[in-house]
Amino acid sequence: MINDLWYKNAVIYSLSVATYMDANGDGIGDFKGLVRRLDYLQGLGITALWLMPFQPSPNRDGGYDISNYYGVDPRYGTLGDFVEFTQGCKQRGMRVLIDLVVNHTSDQHSWFKEACSDPQSTYRDWYVWSRKKPADAASGVVFPGVQKSTWNYEKTAKAYYFHRFYDFQPDLNTSHPEVQAEILKIMGFWLQLGVDGFRMDAVPFVIASKGANLPRPHEQYDMLRSFSEFLTWRKNGAIILGEANVLPDTDLKYFGSFGERLQMMFNFDVNQHMFYALASADPKPLIKAMQDTKPRPATAQWGQFLRNHDELDLGRLSQRQRDTVFTAFGPDKEMQLYQRGIRRRLAPMLQGDRRLMELAYSLMMSLPGTPVLRYGDEIGMGDDLSLPERNCARTPMQWSSEPNAGFTENKKPVMPVISEGGYAFHHVNVAAQRRDPNSFMNWMERIIRMRKEVPEVGWGDFSFIRTTKPQVLAMRYDWRGNSVVCMHNFSPQPQEVRFATHAKGEPESTLVNLLSEDHSYPEANGRHCILLEPYGYRWFRMGGLDYLLKRTEV
Ligand code: NOJ
Ligand code: CA
Repeated sequence: MINDLWYKNAVIYSLSVATYMDANGDGIGDFKGLVRRLDYLQGLGITALWLMPFQPSPNRDGGYDISNYYGVDPRYGTLGDFVEFTQGCKQRGMRVLIDLVVNHTSDQHSWFKEACSDPQSTYRDWYVWSRKKPADAASGVVFPGVQKSTWNYEKTAKAYYFHRFYDFQPDLNTSHPEVQAEILKIMGFWLQLGVDGFRMDAVPFVIASKGANLPRPHEQYDMLRSFSEFLTWRKNGAIILGEANVLPDTDLKYFGSFGERLQMMFNFDVNQHMFYALASADPKPLIKAMQDTKPRPATAQWGQFLRNHDELDLGRLSQRQRDTVFTAFGPDKEMQLYQRGIRRRLAPMLQGDRRLMELAYSLMMSLPGTPVLRYGDEIGMGDDLSLPERNCARTPMQWSSEPNAGFTENKKPVMPVISEGGYAFHHVNVAAQRRDPNSFMNWMERIIRMRKEVPEVGWGDFSFIRTTKPQVLAMRYDWRGNSVVCMHNFSPQPQEVRFATHAKGEPESTLVNLLSEDHSYPEANGRHCILLEPYGYRWFRMGGLDYLLKRTEV
């Protein structure tokens, strides 16, 4: 196995330039502001950033409606500022992933405008048209309750165009060779400016065949291989992290049997079952999700996450499981979205309960894969449910107790800063938490530091340890002669857990606690007995602290 696969043991942090830090005081976050915060991110232990779209855009879907793929929206700075940013990351050893939104463009993109106004234009075939409204126009909408159809009439073109998402996001005809060539060109451009890869938006829709009344739509998985080949030729070490909320039995189609397609994907299946485990104290379905998503090529990697910039999609849970999560974490209608999910941030979902927040993050960081954090979660930021749809969880970063949380010197920030209630910036901010050794942020920094020293999680094989308690998830990781055990108690009661890490007859090892003092020594019967607090968790290393000397080379 190649040692150099950096994404196997990375810590990824996602942010939106618009709401992170405003340097010039116009109320909108920008690249200059972000550059000033790179030392903060490095200090937190982040090794890779994922930026939401920052290209020119009418901004009707958080920038996921791009009107020019080869620029920076002037609100955020210039291409020059962008290169200063990637250079700043490089200096600090941080990689940069950016969103690659090529399933659709904005309806304001010049390609679409030309396609509409001139039937002879080369861009006409870059989109997906139908003279008549297709019979299935009302099915397959991604934003139910907000979006009514997937086909919209365009007056100038005198035809209907296909849009999987909002009507201002016409789908690109991604089967068209010219469109595919353009996608490569876009990737090549940003690689040249210093990025290390892409978070590819809406992958299943990018590779789907598109058109009116298709007899049997199919996925063109080979496209992923050509993207991946191009990428690795152009830049050593570049990757694609795919957004594909698909069933586990298609995972290998996305990774490629030999890892020749996507290097990484978000693990949506584990994500949803993780929230079910937190809501129900029953980790069994989570165990199943981990088993179902276990098969993957050796070079491929899961991105494990709790919350992202979208709603928490619970569409893969059973009705009963979904109801359990809604009742626990999003009981009110205003907290729910698109008939399938919860739009809140993590801390308010967990009612700010520090024990649950630590449990959730300790779990996420010890799941097989690479953790992906969301800005603001490291300080337990809240949400503003008065903002529409997903915007409630996209408010500006809370840096300090200065006006507008130190995000901007302008009176009117691009999005309202949370300034009322328990999550107001006066109470929840980086400056205050920095001074408090027991703050959530300092806890996060310590656990990130430990996560990086436990490559067994990112690189190793995992198995489940049988315990006497169904509310406890106990896992073991093995890699290059070293082993780690992680335990999580999902219940509000303390649990005494008895278990063995070795087969019967083999001597048990000492378990060295990696996060606090209480190590575990096997009892006379050769088994371990650990008392986990309510929502308690432990990370142990098997054997002594000379493990590094015992790590094998292969
Ligand atoms: C997925 C993105 O995460 C979401 O924010 C966006 O609205 C859709 N793709 C459309 O680009
Ligand atoms: Ca600005």
